Amino acid sequence: MFESLQPMPADAILGLIAEHRDDPRPEKIDLGVGVYRNAAGETPVLDTVKKAERRLLESQTTKAYIGTAGDASFNAAMQDLTFADSAPGDRLVTIQTPGGSGSLRVAAGMLLRAHESVSVWASEPTWANHAPLLGGAGLQLKPYPYYDAERHVIRIDAMLETLRAAPQGDVILLHGCCHNPSGLDPTEDEWQAIVDVVIERELIPFIDIAYQGFARSVDDDPFVIRELAGRVPELVVANSCSKNFGLYRDRVGALSFLTADGATRDVVSSQVNNYVRTLYSVPPDHGAAVVSMILHDPDLRSDWIDEVNEMRDRLADMRVLFNAALVEKTPGRDFSHLVRANGMFCFLGISADQVQRLKKDYGIYMVDSSRINVAGITEDNVGYLSDAIAAVV
Ligand code: LMR
Repeated sequence: MFESLQPMPADAILGLIAEHRDDPRPEKIDLGVGVYRNAAGETPVLDTVKKAERRLLESQTTKAYIGTAGDASFNAAMQDLTFADSAPGDRLVTIQTPGGSGSLRVAAGMLLRAHESVSVWASEPTWANHAPLLGGAGLQLKPYPYYDAERHVIRIDAMLETLRAAPQGDVILLHGCCHNPSGLDPTEDEWQAIVDVVIERELIPFIDIAYQGFARSVDDDPFVIRELAGRVPELVVANSCSKNFGLYRDRVGALSFLTADGATRDVVSSQVNNYVRTLYSVPPDHGAAVVSMILHDPDLRSDWIDEVNEMRDRLADMRVLFNAALVEKTPGRDFSHLVRANGMFCFLGISADQVQRLKKDYGIYMVDSSRINVAGITEDNVGYLSDAIAAVV
């Protein structure tokens, strides 16, 4: 039966991992997949993760199933990290999921269970896997304007205008912070304007927050979630712990629903647990147990915040360094949006053809859209990188 299948192209983002790995040139640079790298170009295991893993190894007594919702202490910690005290606990339900992607996929299934024909508005552009992941689950996606590729700013007026015309009850997918791929986040005033339209149009906010701590701080980054939680009846939040805990391959995420009242919360809770059982039965435990231990232990938690701050500061430093190098090497061109963006990503703003030349002639890898991950930049490679860009533009 499988002869009927056709091969698929490599994934636009994950495919770059293998391409870069197989490139023999020592000067090659990976600005592709969203993985943090330190000044030495490595993605180390966080110290706090290592400490928690050592304690777990000593203290864990069983590997028995943990149930469809995962670990209750992890769920409580994630709920606190995301909402703090902005939402009434008796209207909230949180489950542990296999990464942020698992969370998005379960959310999609739940939206469809609630409303078979629901539409989800997503930013144009959005994370390259949003459409395959959510659309693949059966959701209908519609674009709202977001990034102005000429001026490198958010098209806030056009976005608000589109949302003002969205049918009541539609879902709006927002990036909680560090918009992927543009790196440009609304200001607090712009967020307020977005929240006002969400309330006016009675839209259902669905927030994907995969980079909490990488924009301003762990506590400031869920700004829009906390604003919404106090003002809307219903809200969906998908968290990822891949980046801020560096637990990429351990698959740690969470999914929360804020519901209109406690009775609905109980129904949603039973539905989501039932849905998970039909999908992957139970989530993986190890990474979530590590996160839970870190968040519940005051010393580990404070050391973890320091580690997140260090990652965020390095990303910001590399943006400044790279922009300064480009100012020198590409006079007349403006790359200043590099330093206005948050987190790992932003668009370089070069053509797909120039992206291919960087790959072929210089061993520099980025997504075809010219999205770069600034974590791949170091003090050692920034000169080579900016020379190469100057040569192709
Ligand atoms: C990215 O956008 O590079 C990351 O979120 C990794 C992924 O799965 O695409």
